[in-house]
Amino acid sequence: MKIGIIGAMREEIIPLLEIFGKYEEISLGGNIFYCVSYKDSEIYIAYSKIGKVHSALTASSMILYFKCEKIIFSGVAGGLRQDLKVGDLMIATKLCQHDVDISAFGHPLGFIPESKIYIQSDPKLNEIAKSVAKRYEFDLKEGIIASGDQFINNAEKKQWLIEKFNADAVEMEGASVAVVCDLLQVPFCIFRSISDSADGQADVSFDEFLDSSARISANFVKNMVDTLLQQDNL
Ligand code: ADE
Repeated sequence: MKIGIIGAMREEIIPLLEIFGKYEEISLGGNIFYCVSYKDSEIYIAYSKIGKVHSALTASSMILYFKCEKIIFSGVAGGLRQDLKVGDLMIATKLCQHDVDISAFGHPLGFIPESKIYIQSDPKLNEIAKSVAKRYEFDLKEGIIASGDQFINNAEKKQWLIEKFNADAVEMEGASVAVVCDLLQVPFCIFRSISDSADGQADVSFDEFLDSSARISANFVKNMVDTLLQQDNL
């Protein structure tokens, strides 16, 4: 099987490269794809750079050029829900683009004609993630993730995301990866560990917890990959 694992920032994939150890580097479209041979499979790991455009290109490259059959995102997010604390890990049930606004033409926020507001992540991959969490007695959270090309660090915007999109966490890449995978019919799942609470202190919290939260997500993704490959061999 060929699996693509995307992070947005270098810090989000470093723990994965450390875990998998040996890799070949392939440059394409401003990204370096770290290709790992692992248990008769190939894993392509890359950081896209921040934002929806960059992550859409990386996901497209993984699918169309490297022929990845599953896409996993691993990284950090701002928590919007009260119960989400730094270091908690969330898997996205569905994702939306909170910065899409053509309401001037009567469309709901986040809606693009011929598309949809929310893109569902793959139920089978999400089930595997839950089975991994159960096996390791890991408290994996689930929720709606809103993505946009903005770092959210104020209480009003945070409240707006909750009210308008019922969002549980916010980041800057998940929904674009979701759109690409959905259109190209490649199963995907999105893991995000909480680095901040998208409030007035979010920038400070993000800087402090980026590395540790990214590592929590990466460690879980490693177990996810092992389980996925095991099931593929059954
Ligand atoms: N990624 C992590 N924290 C974030 C935030 N507060 N806003 C957008 N993306 C994030």
